[in-house]
Amino acid sequence: MHLSPFPYLILILLPSIPLIHPQPFIFTTFTSPVSPPLTLNGIANITADGILKLTNASSHQIGRCLYSNPIQFKSHNKSLSFSTAFVFSIVPNFKKLGGHGFAFTISPTKDFTGAQPSQYLGLLNVTLNGNASNHLFAVEFDTVQDFEFSDINNNHVGVNVNKMKSVNSSKAGFFVDGNLTKQDLCLHSGKKIQAWIDYDAEKTELNVTLSLFSNKPNTPIISLPVDLSPVFQEYMYVGFSASTGVLRSSHYIYGWSFNMSGKAESLDVHQLPSLSQINNNNKKKKMKTGVKVLFSGLVILGGLIVVIVVICVVKKLKKTEAVEDWELDLGPRPFSYKELKDATKGFHEKQMVGFGGSGKVYKGVLSESKMVIAVKRISKKSKQGQKEFLSEISTIGRLRHRSLVQLLGWSRNKGELLLVYDFMANGSLDKYVYMSNGSKVVLNWEQRFKIINDVSYGLVYLHEEWEQTVLHRDVKAGNVLLDSDLNGRLGDFGLAKLYDHDSNSNVPTTRVVGTLGYLAPELTRTGKPTTSSDVYAFGALLLEVVCGRRPIETKASPEEMLLVDWVWDKWREGCLVEVVDWRLKGEYNETEVVMVLKLGLMCSRDEASLRPSMRQVVRYLSGEVPLPEALGSTCDGGVVKVDDCITPMEKIK
Ligand SMILES: *[C@@H]1O[C@H](CO)[C@@H](O)[C@H](O)[C@H]1NC(C)=O
Ligand SMILES: *[C@@H]1O[C@H](CO)[C@@H](O)[C@H](O)[C@H]1NC(C)=O
Ligand SMILES: *[C@@H]1O[C@H](CO)[C@@H](O)[C@H](O)[C@H]1NC(C)=O
Ligand SMILES: *[C@@H]1O[C@H](CO)[C@@H](O)[C@H](O)[C@H]1NC(C)=O
Ligand SMILES: *[C@@H]1O[C@H](CO)[C@@H](O)[C@H](O)[C@H]1NC(C)=O
Ligand SMILES: *[C@@H]1O[C@H](CO)[C@@H](O)[C@H](O)[C@H]1NC(C)=O
Ligand SMILES: *[C@@H]1O[C@H](CO)[C@@H](O)[C@H](O)[C@H]1NC(C)=O
Ligand SMILES: *[C@@H]1O[C@H](CO)[C@@H](O)[C@H](O)[C@H]1NC(C)=O
Ligand SMILES: *[C@@H]1O[C@H](CO)[C@@H](O)[C@H](O)[C@H]1NC(C)=O
Repeated sequence: MHLSPFPYLILILLPSIPLIHPQPFIFTTFTSPVSPPLTLNGIANITADGILKLTNASSHQIGRCLYSNPIQFKSHNKSLSFSTAFVFSIVPNFKKLGGHGFAFTISPTKDFTGAQPSQYLGLLNVTLNGNASNHLFAVEFDTVQDFEFSDINNNHVGVNVNKMKSVNSSKAGFFVDGNLTKQDLCLHSGKKIQAWIDYDAEKTELNVTLSLFSNKPNTPIISLPVDLSPVFQEYMYVGFSASTGVLRSSHYIYGWSFNMSGKAESLDVHQLPSLSQINNNNKKKKMKTGVKVLFSGLVILGGLIVVIVVICVVKKLKKTEAVEDWELDLGPRPFSYKELKDATKGFHEKQMVGFGGSGKVYKGVLSESKMVIAVKRISKKSKQGQKEFLSEISTIGRLRHRSLVQLLGWSRNKGELLLVYDFMANGSLDKYVYMSNGSKVVLNWEQRFKIINDVSYGLVYLHEEWEQTVLHRDVKAGNVLLDSDLNGRLGDFGLAKLYDHDSNSNVPTTRVVGTLGYLAPELTRTGKPTTSSDVYAFGALLLEVVCGRRPIETKASPEEMLLVDWVWDKWREGCLVEVVDWRLKGEYNETEVVMVLKLGLMCSRDEASLRPSMRQVVRYLSGEVPLPEALGSTCDGGVVKVDDCITPMEKIK
């Protein structure tokens, strides 16, 4: 029997049956409870108004929403085009600071186990970052500048392929048709923003377009030649991932359309639900009946009343805004003494978590927000001008970096200064590094290496990346604090300057601030701190983290007393690994350990001009630039000969 063409047709059409091609789709509202086709994870949820809320203002959270069915992105080993449009808004917790942003993502799986919040946006983590087997494509809407990923600013859109460092990025903005000037756009303004992402697999071209309106502008803000065929697998999942860190925002998606067979339909921004409607639904209904009554009777009078009300409301709004702006410019906020006293249970001894040169540190919980804080009490004898004091506090408070312990505010009480910081759950690094402290927890090499890297980013920020150079002046293990994930964060930055004002002397430069063993030699001569003297102290920190001992160990034999000299000696003898902390039990990456030790020696050079800058230090640590072979003239530039060395374990015995 002759075969009719009909069965063939069925065979050919089968792969495009909706189950396999579950698109195009368009959401102009989201419904709760969520059943397929959307999968939510993390803290993502759907509001009563049908808005997808990826994260709220809780810190270190992830929220994701993925389309439940996989979508075919490759056919016959050729990648397919796609097009998507969505409307979002980012509402930051602190008006001017968004954290950390969100991404539209195409991923081979719905399982993001191990992905981290903050700068990783819930997509990747430090080990996965950059691995080609991630098969991850993302367009990030990033509101925090991460120097680690070479972010261009704290308000950008970036295209990411397998890693958080963007292939290409652009300052957030949009074009209005007929105007060649890019209009500025603040991603975390809280306004509804529409984004379009279009990929043409034939032309291997990706466009990202933004607008505050419903119609798609002709000009994209990113138009990038990129071939996604190595990234795509046959079936992929599409969706959104958002995260918060110390800085945090609520991330909302109002509508979403997606299309593999043509351009995704644009969304009508005004038809979508609005955030302002939340909690106002009842009020609105009442207003409606009210308006009807007015119209039936006193149209003119009603109009007048409305005008007056509007004017009043606008005036009031303007007023409140001005106050908030002023408060934010100041950075950290003042706390009342009582608030801090209550939080720390009256500065109870049990709440004391640290005791440093500068004062006692207490753990506290703010009664209203339930936020966990650290309160540092510093006695201040001198009467410093209120204005000067405020300007300094606000300078320090405006420094924001994930490798710095955030100053949240201050309080003054009878000559006593109280500083309020983010609480760091794991205390200070010195607790873990020195064996003498009887600490049971031993940090492994990966943890130590990560902490060193974290601190180096914090110092680069202070030295070079902020609007003015900030010297730390007291870099040491005791000032490196560890958060709950064992991230290293620098504390007490910029404070040395504050302490300075305590000195009665009117020639404050002669007073050396710092800690013995970390003090650069020129400091004791000139008394003038520089970025190089911070680098010197950072060098001492590198050595002590690897060696697990203090820069000066009075109980050690004379040749081992000064850590720097001892490491120099071992380097010259070619037995550098002998100095490595025995508690690591030989379990470490030798290349990294040797690199860090050599870098520690470079930073500890007596001659300030020979020390690297923190920027260079970061490049060496990341492996971007190899360390110079020779460290100095006195060194015979030798290669480390492991076989010649007795192991550190034997030595201790
Ligand atoms: C999501 O919201 C609903 C109410 O809208 C609530 O019952 C539910 O507990 C929320 N889920 C999460 C994970 O917060
Ligand atoms: C954010 O959402 C989570 C989970 O729904 C909830 O536990 C937390 O209290 C919320 N945080 C804020 C600040 O609303
Ligand atoms: C698919 O394409 C890639 C290059 O894009 C090629 O390396 C690979 O061998 C192809 N696989 C098949 C099964 O044709
Ligand atoms: C990153 O995620 C992977 C995959 O889940 C996991 O194996 C790895 O341990 C994670 N790395 C870190 C540093 O969390
Ligand atoms: C990349 O990931 C694969 C699979 O998870 C793993 O086998 C490989 O070692 C990773 N590569 C790097 C450089 O981490
Ligand atoms: C992004 O790509 C465009 C065009 O290819 C290029 O002009 C621009 O410099 C790139 N920007 C970044 C940050 O890589
Ligand atoms: C284009 O936009 C810029 C910035 O908003 C504006 O100053 C300029 O007047 C506009 N030009 C035209 C021709 O509309
Ligand atoms: C990207 O934008 C350019 C300029 O408007 C346009 O010519 C091109 O067709 C667009 N490509 C895609 C894939 O939308
Ligand atoms: C998908 O593209 C087709 C072809 O351009 C169009 O007719 C359809 O409306 C689009 N659907 C959506 C939901 O964007």
